[in-house]
Amino acid sequence: MKATEIRKGIYWVGGIDWDLRNFHGYLTQRGSTYNSYLIIDEKITLIDNVKSYMADEQIKRISQIIDPTKIDYVIQNHIEMDHSGSLPKIMDLCPNAKVIASPKGVEGIPKHYKKEWNFQTVKSGDVLNLGKRTLHFVQTPMLHWPDNMVSYCPEEKILFSNDAFGQHIASSERFDEEYPLHLMLHETTKYYANIVLPYSNQVQKALEVVQALDIEIICPSHGLIIKKYISEILAEYKKWSGYQVDDKALIIYDTMWKSTEAIAHSIQETFEAKNYQTRMFNLQHTHISDIMTEILTAKYICVGSPTLNNNIMPTVASFLTYLKGLAPKKRIGLAFGSYGWGGQSIGIVENTLKECGFDMLDQIKIQYVPDDAILKEKENHLIDQIK
Ligand code: FEO
Repeated sequence: MKATEIRKGIYWVGGIDWDLRNFHGYLTQRGSTYNSYLIIDEKITLIDNVKSYMADEQIKRISQIIDPTKIDYVIQNHIEMDHSGSLPKIMDLCPNAKVIASPKGVEGIPKHYKKEWNFQTVKSGDVLNLGKRTLHFVQTPMLHWPDNMVSYCPEEKILFSNDAFGQHIASSERFDEEYPLHLMLHETTKYYANIVLPYSNQVQKALEVVQALDIEIICPSHGLIIKKYISEILAEYKKWSGYQVDDKALIIYDTMWKSTEAIAHSIQETFEAKNYQTRMFNLQHTHISDIMTEILTAKYICVGSPTLNNNIMPTVASFLTYLKGLAPKKRIGLAFGSYGWGGQSIGIVENTLKECGFDMLDQIKIQYVPDDAILKEKENHLIDQIK
């Protein structure tokens, strides 16, 4: 349980949540960290906190470096409880420390913790003098809460980016260069798809600010500290926030008697024939947050459900609700499914995909069990529509 020195006098003092597997609906197979950073200067400064149940771990790490009662400033870049949960315990130790946050942060913290600490509000352009170093604040509202901001230390060329550029990874390694790159990139992708995606317009604005800064280290609030792969991560954020997609088609479905599954396979083969990358996801077996990772760069999103009680399968409903909330743009949808008599499911799926703002291909709706002839007919019609 050691603190990690990032630069001389700057330490990671966060918490490692090895057991976390569900982050409000997002499957976190690799756990997560809540990163907190300690700057030793004329003013002792703590940047961000950890979940409440990791407070003791954070305080032990801080105590290896300095007596926590000596903290002067607590910068709360974001008030969500994974980054502010330990604040009450920290403030019990240093009750006279200034808690520094954006206007929405200062408004929101007492609503969470029912305490009136010594608050200081900062806005974009404000500078806090720590002694040898300064912290420059940039508000990043709705990335992904109204209170979000980032803190930049020009003397050290470090950006404390809070939720931006993070990944849900629990590890003993602290830096990107120490961890398998493909896993870090995968978790960065999953994090963007499941948390940041709805705020892509705000990401584009934030990227303009970030790209104008001289940055050697990005210290996010989750996962690995980014030193070696900054340009790669920024390039991916630019691609994702611009809704750029690959020639990739996803076929996502649930099935009752394998008729909708047969249509799904037929759709997959049709896209494959057009040289698309394809991915099949049976919602009985794949978590919706893992499907979102692939949706981030998929051009075609095909969703199938048989009709069940005049409606769609609950798994498909759950997926569509999640998809709609995360609001990917510039996609093309396709609704498909088999039915016995009512056949409402295909229209329900199609309407939801339209509500997502997707352009739509012609739906594929087949009664009872599809045979080769009907599947071939549908494939021929589909292949003509694929660009
Ligand atoms: Fe918005 Fe990691 O909390």
